[in-house]
Amino acid sequence: MKRKLLDYLRCPSCAGAILLSSIASTEEGEIMEGKLACDSCQSTFPIVRGIPRFGTPEKLDADKAATAETFGWQWQHFVQSDELYADQFLGWIAPVRPEFFRDKVVLEGGCGKGRHTQLAASWGARDVIGVDLSDAVETAFAATRNLENAHIVQADIYHLPFARVVDYAFSVGVLHHLPDPRAGFRSLATKVKDGGHLSAWVYGAESNEWITRFVDPLRKKFSSRMDRRALLHLSKLPAAVVYLATKLIYGPLNRSKGGPKLARHLFYNDYLSAISQFGWREQHTIVFDHLVAPTSHYIHRKDFEEWWREVGAKDVIVGWHNKNSWRGFGRI
Ligand SMILES: C[S@@+](CC[C@H](N)C(=O)[O-])C[C@H]1O[C@@H](n2cnc3c(N)ncnc32)[C@H](O)[C@@H]1O
Ligand SMILES: [Zn+2]
Repeated sequence: MKRKLLDYLRCPSCAGAILLSSIASTEEGEIMEGKLACDSCQSTFPIVRGIPRFGTPEKLDADKAATAETFGWQWQHFVQSDELYADQFLGWIAPVRPEFFRDKVVLEGGCGKGRHTQLAASWGARDVIGVDLSDAVETAFAATRNLENAHIVQADIYHLPFARVVDYAFSVGVLHHLPDPRAGFRSLATKVKDGGHLSAWVYGAESNEWITRFVDPLRKKFSSRMDRRALLHLSKLPAAVVYLATKLIYGPLNRSKGGPKLARHLFYNDYLSAISQFGWREQHTIVFDHLVAPTSHYIHRKDFEEWWREVGAKDVIVGWHNKNSWRGFGRI
């Protein structure tokens, strides 16, 4: 943990100031082991392996814990990086562009392996804080510890340990996995200061009936309950179908002259064309990600719009992404 993070921290229980009460070891400017304490309610929070720990899955409700535990496993296994991540990220947070991050205090709700925390830091954020509840924080910390403006915190998105000082908060691919997605969104919005901005990307309900009808029952009954290693291997089968379809049909057709007109009629074309550039490992991650999650909500546009109204956001832009999900951007 870098000392600079202290400027942003507040007690998740009482919003009191957080002080560094002891340091047991440091490494290259990072506090690796130590203790934080709330100045008001005296709660203490350990710093373990360089990461301040404000909540761990074991202490939470069973469904939240299951989600975090599953993703923790996933993001410690699929640690690869991909040069296409930047474009993919910009697709999820459009109309935000890299220049937008410059000098901002940025908060990421559910950072997984830290790929977007890394990008935000490299795009010139003053400080970016990636928060995740699961063991994925270990991977995220390793990926970002050499960036002086990147911080990783283990905490629950419903109980964020920060002051309301954030210029820009974003969350991609996380809210729909929470037991109450709207409450997670609301919690993130409370950390954005007046005039700051917020982005969120969630699964859409509208064109995913085939998933909610056919894939979801399998996910709920079998795949999310299976042994992870077994699912890892089993998921290679549907991943191979997706991989062959994107490499042999969707990708070539969408990139050929005159092809996109024809491709428009293909099943799920926008999405499958978008992921057609990814290699095998990334596509396998995507398929595995869908099958492993214990909780997934598919959100209707009108409900998503309501989330933004509820937090009082202004100049909100809600739009279709790849015709299968919703992205939103607004000012608080
Ligand atoms: C599908 S992953 C997306 C990770 C990252 N945003 C990305 O796109 O690479 C969802 C992440 O949300 C995290 N998560 C789930 N429940 C959470 C909670 N209650 N608080 C914070 N993070 C949570 C999981 O641990 C997981 O890393
Ligand atoms: Zn406190």
